[in-house]
Amino acid sequence: MSTDIAGSGILTKARTALTIAGGLYALALGLIAVPYFQSHTLYLNAVRLPWFADFDAPERYGLALNKTYNFKIQTVDNETLGAWFILSESVYQALPSHNVMPKSHIAHALRARPTILFFHGNAATRAFKVRIQHYTAFSSRLNANVLAVDYRGFADSTGSPSEEGLVRDARAAYEWLINSGAKGEDIIIMGHSLGTGVGARLAAQLSKEELAYRGIVLLSPFSSITELVKTYSVMGALPLVKPLTMIPYAFNFITWALIHKFDTLSVVPQIKGKVLIAHAENDWDIPYTHSEVLFNAFLEPLLPNVDIPSDPVSTTKEDWSAFTAQIAARKTQRENLVTTTRLPNFGVMEEFVDRGGESLVNGEPVRGAEYWAAGRPGGGAPWDREVIFVKMLEGNHDNVGIQEGLQDIIGKKFGLLSHTRPNLPLPIMSAPPMSAPASIAPESDVGGSDLSEAGGWSPLPSASERGEWTGEITKVID
Ligand SMILES: *[C@@H]1O[C@H](CO)[C@@H](O)[C@H](O)[C@H]1NC(C)=O
Ligand SMILES: *[C@@H]1O[C@H](CO)[C@@H](O)[C@H](O)[C@H]1NC(C)=O
Repeated sequence: MSTDIAGSGILTKARTALTIAGGLYALALGLIAVPYFQSHTLYLNAVRLPWFADFDAPERYGLALNKTYNFKIQTVDNETLGAWFILSESVYQALPSHNVMPKSHIAHALRARPTILFFHGNAATRAFKVRIQHYTAFSSRLNANVLAVDYRGFADSTGSPSEEGLVRDARAAYEWLINSGAKGEDIIIMGHSLGTGVGARLAAQLSKEELAYRGIVLLSPFSSITELVKTYSVMGALPLVKPLTMIPYAFNFITWALIHKFDTLSVVPQIKGKVLIAHAENDWDIPYTHSEVLFNAFLEPLLPNVDIPSDPVSTTKEDWSAFTAQIAARKTQRENLVTTTRLPNFGVMEEFVDRGGESLVNGEPVRGAEYWAAGRPGGGAPWDREVIFVKMLEGNHDNVGIQEGLQDIIGKKFGLLSHTRPNLPLPIMSAPPMSAPASIAPESDVGGSDLSEAGGWSPLPSASERGEWTGEITKVID
């Protein structure tokens, strides 16, 4: 056999392989355009990890004995959802015996401690290992009750998933908490990955109906599924749709075919509670730029407009200088509004307070006033919306919520750390406050005082730090 023939044989094989790969890729994309397959690709609800889970035995998966109540939640459209209610640590440890089913303590737990309403990401079930680690940390370190639900079509829940369906499931879980005795102001909505799309839509819905919730935490969120499809890559290696973006119209087709949009970006203006966004720089599933886009969307209404010259050729010198002045004003405004705190070896925290109807920056009213006024016919009471973005060095896609650094920020911002403090009254200490990072704005009292107290108590914890409801967000929701 001559080398010549062998060479062309390899070429032919390579070409065949490429053709097959190309064909499979086209087929896969074609299938994704079919709702049934799209649904399964997005939700991955058929991946029921851990397989054959016994939801009646949460102890098997790492939770303390009789700390978790396994039950079913009914939705308005008659789906039945599998759910776990996990008791907060202080309630659990105060029980005279752990040989009692946790059901009987739920009403008490809901009155005693705030509750994290947790919406998990795609694939697997509420018993999945990393999710259990979240419940353990939230119930122990943050001493919160946790309600974890499996959406329709997941785990032991009935039905099949859809965007509207998942939002109804989220609402059913919220209603269950209220009907079991929780106050809206004591409910913290938390979503991870796909769950951020669900949680954000629930928060927007509650805000619209003027129903209370303490705030929302978005762990490793995406801005919208359409954006995600453009940037999503499997384990950071295989860009799913990137090759398509090189073919004109093909991307529009995929966008059109996407029936599950979970457009968190578009509901941003409607979310009125406190918002905390957390994302790791080493998230190879969803790039952290999605969180930057979301944070900027919350900030946008507070920044001055920039009129981009429509025709650069005929733009006069004066137009250009007006344009650059606008950009400079925008930059200054951003710097005035956003407080940045560097947390060594952990990440960076950016935050601002949107003062709704009466935003003043250095004595000047900002555009937000008009923006919110327009969205609130009749004016309404002014309210504050605090928005926090924590960009973390580590945590990849799944472990952001189990980083203690982030848990503590959540604890401080959402008033969950009362159990780490002695009971009142505390002696008023005259010692100077521990050196607070200069960059922390005085109004971010919770973050400011807590971050600074590396070894001592701050003189008196505020009501919100003690975990008491201060009525702050009630104003927000009004
Ligand atoms: C739900 O079930 C009840 C009783 O089985 C029935 O009366 C009701 O019409 C059902 N609702 C829907 C939306 O299917
Ligand atoms: C929980 O309490 C019940 C008694 O109400 C008991 O029968 C059961 O064994 C307990 N479960 C565990 C895991 O300890």
